[in-house]
Amino acid sequence: MNLFVTGGAGFIGSNFIRHILSLRQGHRVVNYDKLTYAGNLANLETVADDPNYRFVKGDICDGPAVTAAMEGCDAVIHFAAESHVDRSIYEPSAAIETNVTGTFVLLQIARTLQVQRFVHISTDEVYGDILPGAFADEGSHLRPSSPYSASKAASDLLVLSYVRTYGFPGLITRSSNNYGPFQFPEKFLPLMITNALDSKPLPIYGDGAQQRDWLHVEDNCRGILAVLERGRIGEVYNIGGLDIVENLTMARRLLRVMSKPETLLSYVQDRPGHDRRYALKCEKMERELGWKPMISLEDGLRQTIEWYGANATWMAGVRGGEYRSYYEKYYENRDSTLHAIAQSGPKTSH
Ligand code: NAD
Ligand code: DAU
Repeated sequence: MNLFVTGGAGFIGSNFIRHILSLRQGHRVVNYDKLTYAGNLANLETVADDPNYRFVKGDICDGPAVTAAMEGCDAVIHFAAESHVDRSIYEPSAAIETNVTGTFVLLQIARTLQVQRFVHISTDEVYGDILPGAFADEGSHLRPSSPYSASKAASDLLVLSYVRTYGFPGLITRSSNNYGPFQFPEKFLPLMITNALDSKPLPIYGDGAQQRDWLHVEDNCRGILAVLERGRIGEVYNIGGLDIVENLTMARRLLRVMSKPETLLSYVQDRPGHDRRYALKCEKMERELGWKPMISLEDGLRQTIEWYGANATWMAGVRGGEYRSYYEKYYENRDSTLHAIAQSGPKTSH
């Protein structure tokens, strides 16, 4: 198979490319990525010289460039996105442009080129806040809370509309919070791990009682491969780690494993519109595709902490200019920055 992978220089995409090249030796991969702040070719150094791998720098919103790069591909696995919820709250336009318009451009071109399968990588955030004791299955209502999750829900609906209207071979995965090697340190776990390694404060939003379901990225890659190869066209598949933990409990656990003091915990102003809980039902993946998560949170966390500790050069690369100014603005000057954002929008009377 010739695979067209979008966003393959990011966290999950790069793990997926390494996964598939090692498991499916006849497959060829085109990695199409714009290399935003989150895209990093250092994530793919081990496969850069593989004759079955080719990198093309490009934007998914650029139709002619996408057409040229996708020509001859049998399947699309679409990871490219503005993936960080906080950034989508601070500056939403990039998330709308890439996640909605970019997905639309890909769908149009994939349909014209008659690709055989189009796997759209989505998120459990499209279901919004899940009440304590409840779980979202693939038929649950979409109630996204942030510009990021709304843009992902919009792109999911576009994919499903193409299936229904044009008989397009689309499939969707919705996964929970991934963690593991090569994750950009704006996200919770790598941010906490790398700050703890430097004995810097661990910023806990609000009361820290929000819950997330943690999934090791390798388990997700196995799930995505199963959906690509054996999933039913037009179907949505939830992929969760089935390990739901409060943020504060998770931060304390990391500090314990890393032998760092709890005095590093620092409560900071909450994320606006913050979802309290995500929780997925994943029976469909197990029933139809024989998939379930294999990596326990205990093992996965230990390996991930070790990986960040052992990859100081990679860390120094990603924590350069852009990340430093992001961190300064949204963490070191959090209160004034969030206040300015709250004041800047139009006021409604209801
Ligand atoms: P990431 O931010 O690490 O990587 C995104 C990649 O997309 C980067 O390489 C970036 O350069 C590329 N990209 C961004 N805009 C682009 C554009 N316009 N054209 C081409 N490339 C572009 O993201 P991630 O965490 O690896 O997430 C990958 C996908 O999985 C996303 O669609 C995200 O919504 C979804 N997802 C992520 C998680 C998670 O926990 N990280 C969980 C569920 C779903
Ligand atoms: O659930 C899947 C989603 O998981 C993906 O679709 C997104 O792409 C991915 O970014 C992630 O979104 P979250 O908002 O859940 O992840 P994040 O790592 O930003 O935050 C996890 C939790 O930790 C959340 O409750 C907010 C909190 N948090 C986060 C950061 C960055 C903090 O308390 N402090 C922080 O500094």
